[in-house]
Amino acid sequence: MTRVFSGMQPTGDVHLGNLLGALQRWVHDQHTTDAIHCVVDLHALTVPQDPAALRDATLRLSQMFLAVGLDPDVCTVFVQSHVAEHSGLAWLMECTASIGELQRMTQFKDKGGRASFVSGGLLTYPALMAADILLYDTDEVPVGDDQRQHVELARDLAERFNSRYGPTFTVPRATFPKAGARVMDLQDPTSKMSKSAATASGTILVLDEPKVVERKIKRAVTDTESEVRFDVAAKPGVSNLLSILGGATGRTPEEAAAGYTQYGPLKADTAAAVVALLEPIQARFRELEADPAETQRLLAVGAAKARGTAAATLARAREHIGLLDA
Ligand code: TYM
Repeated sequence: MTRVFSGMQPTGDVHLGNLLGALQRWVHDQHTTDAIHCVVDLHALTVPQDPAALRDATLRLSQMFLAVGLDPDVCTVFVQSHVAEHSGLAWLMECTASIGELQRMTQFKDKGGRASFVSGGLLTYPALMAADILLYDTDEVPVGDDQRQHVELARDLAERFNSRYGPTFTVPRATFPKAGARVMDLQDPTSKMSKSAATASGTILVLDEPKVVERKIKRAVTDTESEVRFDVAAKPGVSNLLSILGGATGRTPEEAAAGYTQYGPLKADTAAAVVALLEPIQARFRELEADPAETQRLLAVGAAKARGTAAATLARAREHIGLLDA
């Protein structure tokens, strides 16, 4: 069976880009693949975090994984720092990557360029991400478009390690959704929707109430024409709505465009589709929120499962690179 691995950072609230770009496919594919999904708390440490808030965000994101429909009986759900092998392999990956490669990562240039304090971890972050992926002999990494470069680097590092020290890692590939690989900010459709957006009204959170979702979509920036057509360069706002509508209804943006001649109905239907997608998730989240101990128990089971595979891969990598057995 195809091994799938993917992760999400416990920073801020989960938004529609996270759902359409990643989570939705994780849920869909869990029955036909051997899937492992991880709350990557160590990645969150690349920027300063409030300790209590980080703990809380890690638990809440785990609950969100379950609320969207990841089933711990079917796939593996765990927290990255609960499986120490992630840090163990990350060092071997840091020593396999070159400084130049790490410095060329667009996300490092973006975040590093803006921050007043740039941690060493912000630079070496993709080596930890490569370790996450390679520990599980991963074939496919379902991600949004912004992670494409990081998964490419994981491939390069796997190939480099294999050619230096002998076959050790499966070489993974990234996979993307047919709609929603890059959900854009509703107020600035040339920037991706993100937790750190300039305005809250440009980002739809998975926990936003229906009224809030409707208002944000109604006010979404479009253009002065009136033609509904998927054309990201010429019509970024309308194309974003079509991506969202397509992503929420299992169609490509082009398919979603069929039949619309005005922006009003497009917005109304997009809002309705998003509300319908979010409502059951919100209801399940509220239930899970009431019983944190049960989520903790499920995470412990997930970590134990993950550890089995991760330990075997790290042992192989240690041996191949020449570390003496303990
Ligand atoms: P993160 O936590 O920023 O995002 C989680 C997932 O959501 C996707 N995503 C989007 N997709 C479409 N449109 C958007 N506007 C949008 N914003 C975010 C991301 O592409 C991602 O799939 N480095 C990763 C976490 C990570 C990881 C891994 C992923 C760590 N180790 C191993 C895969 C495999 C990150 O920061 O994602």
